[in-house]
Amino acid sequence: MITVIGNLKGGSGKSTVAFNLAIWLAWQKREVKILDLDPQKTLTDLVQVREEEAYFPALTLLPSDMPLEKLASESGEILVDVGAANLVGMFAAMSHAHRLLIPVVPGQADVWSTQRFLGMIASHRHPDCEVKMFLNRTDAMGGSKEAKEAAAAIAMLKSAKVVPARLGQRVWFCRSLSEGLAVFEMAPRGKASQEFLALTKALYPAIKAKQPWKIGAHVHD
Ligand SMILES: Nc1ncnc2c1ncn2[C@@H]1O[C@H](COP(=O)(O)OP(=O)(O)OP(=O)(O)O)[C@@H](O)[C@H]1O
Ligand SMILES: [Mg+2]
Repeated sequence: MITVIGNLKGGSGKSTVAFNLAIWLAWQKREVKILDLDPQKTLTDLVQVREEEAYFPALTLLPSDMPLEKLASESGEILVDVGAANLVGMFAAMSHAHRLLIPVVPGQADVWSTQRFLGMIASHRHPDCEVKMFLNRTDAMGGSKEAKEAAAAIAMLKSAKVVPARLGQRVWFCRSLSEGLAVFEMAPRGKASQEFLALTKALYPAIKAKQPWKIGAHVHD
């Protein structure tokens, strides 16, 4: 399955979510490959960090200059990280994707931007591509006026479905990128981990998820 994690807005959490999903899928013994179409190459750097630190499981990168029409013949779970800096790549990847996942940070500008993004992709995405959004970086309790308003606003966007899981603004998500580890590897019992695992459950309901990292992960405090 090809999942594009995309959004026009910078800093909405595309790379954080793609990275954590890739590690989670690898722990679930799924074949997973990352395609990093963002010129910032965040995921490429993170894959390298894991390699240098010899963290298990290692992640596999597809060559970022690969012809995108070859994506469909790749086996396993493909996660594509792409933002506004590569709109051509984003639209091309979307024409092959089975799913587009959009992290949305609460805030009026982010909601408007998401709405505009949905309009832009309508003619580019594969007709069978499902479009899903979820709130990222909500206040810790998720009860702020901004979070409630954003939840109500994205629920009204008809061309995409809202995933019934959201991620709070939590320090472990920041540390995930700086350490090269998933939130559930670093703090398996923390709120960030619980929220992220709820997101995986909503996105991959067919996977009977296991938590092998409890015994095997590199736990840093
Ligand atoms: N739920 C969260 N809680 C706390 N920090 C977060 C969360 N999600 C993302 N971040 C942090 O926000 C910053 C931006 O996240 P990230 O790089 O994943 O966004 P992005 O959409 O990939 O950005 P870009 O558009 O620049 O590629 C990073 O420092 C990341 O650690
Ligand atoms: Mg990024």
